[in-house]
Parts: sequence; C-alpha cells; structure tokens
Amino acid sequence: MTADVPAATGSAQPRHGPRQEHAREAATPGPPAARSPAAGSAPARPASGAAGPREALAAVRDEVGKAVIGQEPVVSGLLIALICEGHVLLEGVPGVAKTLLVRALAAALSLDGKRLQFTPDLMPGDVTGSLVYDARTARFEFREGPVFTNLLLADEINRTPPKTQAALLEAMEERQVSVDGTPRPLPVPFLVAATQNAVEYEGTYPLPEAQLDRFLLKLTVPPPERADEIAILARHAAGFDPRDLTAAGIGPVAGPADLAGARRAARDVRVSPEVTGYIVDVCRATRSAPALRLGASPRAATALLATSRAWAWLSGRDYVTPDDVKALAGPALRHRIQLRPEAELDGATPDGVLRGLLAAVPVPR
Ligand SMILES: Nc1ncnc2c1ncn2[C@@H]1O[C@H](COP(=O)(O)OP(=O)(O)OP(=O)(O)O)[C@@H](O)[C@H]1O
Ligand SMILES: [Mg+2]
Repeated sequence: MTADVPAATGSAQPRHGPRQEHAREAATPGPPAARSPAAGSAPARPASGAAGPREALAAVRDEVGKAVIGQEPVVSGLLIALICEGHVLLEGVPGVAKTLLVRALAAALSLDGKRLQFTPDLMPGDVTGSLVYDARTARFEFREGPVFTNLLLADEINRTPPKTQAALLEAMEERQVSVDGTPRPLPVPFLVAATQNAVEYEGTYPLPEAQLDRFLLKLTVPPPERADEIAILARHAAGFDPRDLTAAGIGPVAGPADLAGARRAARDVRVSPEVTGYIVDVCRATRSAPALRLGASPRAATALLATSRAWAWLSGRDYVTPDDVKALAGPALRHRIQLRPEAELDGATPDGVLRGLLAAVPVPR
C-alpha cells in the first residue's frame, strides 16, 4: 500500500451491523480500530466521547468494500472530502472501479449519485440545468441539470471546452446555480468526483492550475493487487453484477446526518502549534524545491490542515499527529504543485518530490 494516501481500516476492523435508521442519533460508542498507513499498524488511541458518526462512517467503508475490493485509501479520501465539504479529482486508468466506487459510496450513505460524461459538445446548461419553455403555463421553467445531486461523478472533464468546465467549477465553488438571476442551492452534501482522461491528451482541454487548486484532494486509483484481482474475478464468477448494488446486498448504513456530525466533530480535533508549524514547513518546502516551478499555495496548506484533521478524527483521535499530515500530503498537494520541465524529463513525479520533501522536513518531536 502506498504511504501517501490515507488507508481505511476497511475489512481489518470488526463489522458493524447495518443501521436501519439513517444517522439520526449517535450509535453505540466505540471508535473503530483505525490505523494510519504512515503509522504502520499501531492502533489509534480512542478519542473521548461517543463515536456515533465515526462508527457509521466505518460501516460505510465496509459496505463499499462489499462492491469494491481494495481501494480503501480512495474510500477514505472520499469520506475526508465529504467531511471537509471539498471535491476530489480521481485519477486512474479505465476499468479500475472509479464509477463503481462512487456509486457504492452513494448507496452506503443513502445519497443521490449521478454520472455525467463530459464531451466536446456538452453545453454549460447540460451541466447546471436550463430554462425550458412550458407551453401549458406559457412560462419558462427551470429544469435542473445533473449537478443537482449529492455525489456527481464528472467523467473526463478535460474533454469539454473551458466554458462548460467553468460552469461545473462555479457550481462546485458556490454550491448553487444561477441561470436566470435566481440562485438555486445545490443539495447538501454536494461532492464532485472528477476524472480526467490521462490516456489521450489529443483534443482535450486540461484544467489550468488555478482550477486544479479548487479540488481538495487528488486521489489515485491504482490497479488492484494480484490477490485482489483474483477476488474481483471470483465475485464476478459468483454472479456479482456491478449494475445492481441492491442485489449485491449493498445498502444505506449511514446518511447525511452522520456526515454533518463528522464535520462538527472534526472541527474539534486539536492541532498543536508544532503540527501547524509542520504543515506550513511542508508547504513552504514545496516553494523552494528545485524540481518544482510552482509550489503549494496557502490554500493548499489550509486543505492539508482540514483533511489531516478529518483523517485524525476518522482514525479515532481528537488530535492531529505529524503522521496524519504525512498521510494527506500527497492527496492534498500533488495536483497543486508543478514540476519544472527539466525535472519532468529526468523522470521526477509530484509524488516522488513530495516524498523527498517529507523525508527532509524536520518532524516535530
Ligand atoms: N477493485 C475492484 N473491485 C471490484 N470490482 C472491480 C474492481 N476494479 C474493477 N472492477 C470491476 O471492473 C468494472 C469496471 O469498473 P468501473 O466501470 O467502475 O471502472 P472505471 O474506473 O469507472 O472505468 P472508466 O474509466 O472506463 O469509466 C467494475 O464494474 C467491476 O466489475
Ligand atoms: Mg467510469
């Protein structure tokens, strides 16, 4: 497992029974035995107080695991983004279950999910919705676009021209759509998981840096390990149909109230001045790294802080450790830094540069 993406506890922890009621109130206390990849397999120290939403979100990770084998770091990353009210870029070659992940997550969290394939001829109104003339009432009515959902899988956003990309990015930022001067709020929660076609660049419109900075995390979805791939095939042989998650026994185990509870709880996670200083030092190091022509912005530093807090909370702690910061540095920063062309020619990668910086920046205590 890569150490730069948060790992979920996934199937490593005891299973929680399905919750019939969607997250109205706190469930039985008892934080999951989470582990951080950077901290090895050391069990986390439980935080004080009831852990209702945390337990519910642990159950979500298990539930998604019924459909998607492996990929726990990506599930954790998506949950962190939901807790922090951010959006994610999903990177992975075709067929590694990006769509299945988002669909299973929506099902487990009792959220509405939609997928939108971006194409060269897609218009802004195809994303946001548009005014449609209703002959019966002789008036223009607003017809909601696919952006009116909780989890939007925006596939291959680099295939669509900048104007349509801008419509999506604006909705992401403002969490509302204004078409005829009337603001229409998007559902809560609202998360965009965007993919970019990385195989072909011909005829694409890559997102500029300023736009990439708006994504809280960039999560990489690697091809499965051999054993996981064998398990995937075994499930298919046994009749698993990825189009019918209900038949596969995947259903709601948590809901929006758990996410709201998680959001509140993560805000109470303590960050010591030393750890704050460490976050700043890591981000500042990217600005003077010889291999980089663009370092992480202060916005990136705030993203690293917020996501480290959410990860600490998900891991069962009420304080952030330097290891939390290390675990999130890759996902929070990799899309916000730019390699110098000569470093790229030498084979440098954003993840490699970040790993080097994490090894060099002094860790508090
Ligand atoms: N880790 C996995 N666990 C379970 N099934 C998997 C996994 N990886 C791939 N699959 C299988 O491969 C199928 C393809 O996945 P999916 O359509 O979600 O891929 P994708 O990454 O969205 O591809 P694309 O980029 O072409 O949209 C899934 O429906 C599933 O059957
Ligand atoms: Mg897909």
